[in-house]
Amino acid sequence: MHLPLEHPMLSTIVDDLATRGWSQQTLFIPDALSRELAHECRQRHAQGALNPAGVGRGAEQEVREAIRGDQIQWIDPGESEPCDRYLHAMDSLRQAINQGLFLGLEDFECHFALYPPGAFYRRHLDRFRDDDRRTVSAVLYLNESWQPTDGGQLRMFLEGDVQRDVEPLAGTLVVFLSGDVPHEVLPAGRERLSLTGWFRRRGNDPF
Ligand code: OGA
Ligand code: MN
Repeated sequence: MHLPLEHPMLSTIVDDLATRGWSQQTLFIPDALSRELAHECRQRHAQGALNPAGVGRGAEQEVREAIRGDQIQWIDPGESEPCDRYLHAMDSLRQAINQGLFLGLEDFECHFALYPPGAFYRRHLDRFRDDDRRTVSAVLYLNESWQPTDGGQLRMFLEGDVQRDVEPLAGTLVVFLSGDVPHEVLPAGRERLSLTGWFRRRGNDPF
């Protein structure tokens, strides 16, 4: 899927990021693509390709289900047509953000995530203490006919003690500044699928 740089949804996201640090779009991708991505996520899970997600970075990474209980698999370009279409759309968004906000985003890293029933992710920030390259977080949800009673909302903690809950409904994309918006995933009553990713800028590491 190619989203032209002047696509109105892209400029809305850029404006939202500039004015309040987060954005929510309900029909970012067509239903058909969302279904294909959900199918692929389930298939990868059935093949045993998803692994318990870790907390922390590099050698300090460890699995801690009391903090996060999702299972993930990183995706790379060229693995499947649906994933490539999504990565293309996100590259258009990356360029639009760079044009509008001069953030110098260089790449996008992204993984499938599956939360089994009961899993959650406690309140956290996406930027690591020892690596500040993650600049903008983007989560695409893949769950058809999700009901508020299914739980699993993304809860963002915004300025002024405001909380914003987002239902993880298929086609919804949430974008926020990785270093500014603490958030959590509430326990889900049923399997919860998403594609979670980060736009990164160049690190300060001189090597
Ligand atoms: C994450 C995360 C949010 C969500 O993976 O870091 O916060 O709604 N995910 O899945
Ligand atoms: Mn997060």
